[in-house]
Amino acid sequence: MVCLGNICRSPLAHGILNHKVKKANLKVVVDSAGTGSWHIGSPPDIRSIDTAKKYGIDISNQKARQIVRDDLDRFDIIYVMDNQNQKDVIGLCSNEKQKNKIKLILDQLSNQSIKSVPDPYYDEIDGFEYVYNLINEACQEITNKLKNDEQ
Ligand code: 4NP
Repeated sequence: MVCLGNICRSPLAHGILNHKVKKANLKVVVDSAGTGSWHIGSPPDIRSIDTAKKYGIDISNQKARQIVRDDLDRFDIIYVMDNQNQKDVIGLCSNEKQKNKIKLILDQLSNQSIKSVPDPYYDEIDGFEYVYNLINEACQEITNKLKNDEQ
């Protein structure tokens, strides 16, 4: 799960998907990172922590990190939150196999007209609730597909 700072959107996506795959008994490694370096080592934004907590998900132990080239080989799928993240991660790729792993998370939702998860950093708490719901729907779809793939 990749966003810009790894403190607002991708920590939510990381926590939500982890919660869903565990509940579904799937053996999947979920992680998150940012394309930027400003927040390395920081916990998620308190508004993301509080929003996740409201839904019974604890993300307070996460620590922000920056995506590294090795992630493009280590992980099978790389979900990005917006178009800029997509461009930035494509810029790190050294082959087609890596590029093909990159997906916009909202492309998982066939009924969703917006393609990017908006950056809530400068929003009020309402923005975090909206982003949580978008990411939650996408993560449900991802979990359903993983479950089907396992069968
Ligand atoms: P995120 O949000 O990419 O969802 O973690 C942001 C957090 C911090 C900044 C930008 C976006 N920033 O510019 O510091």
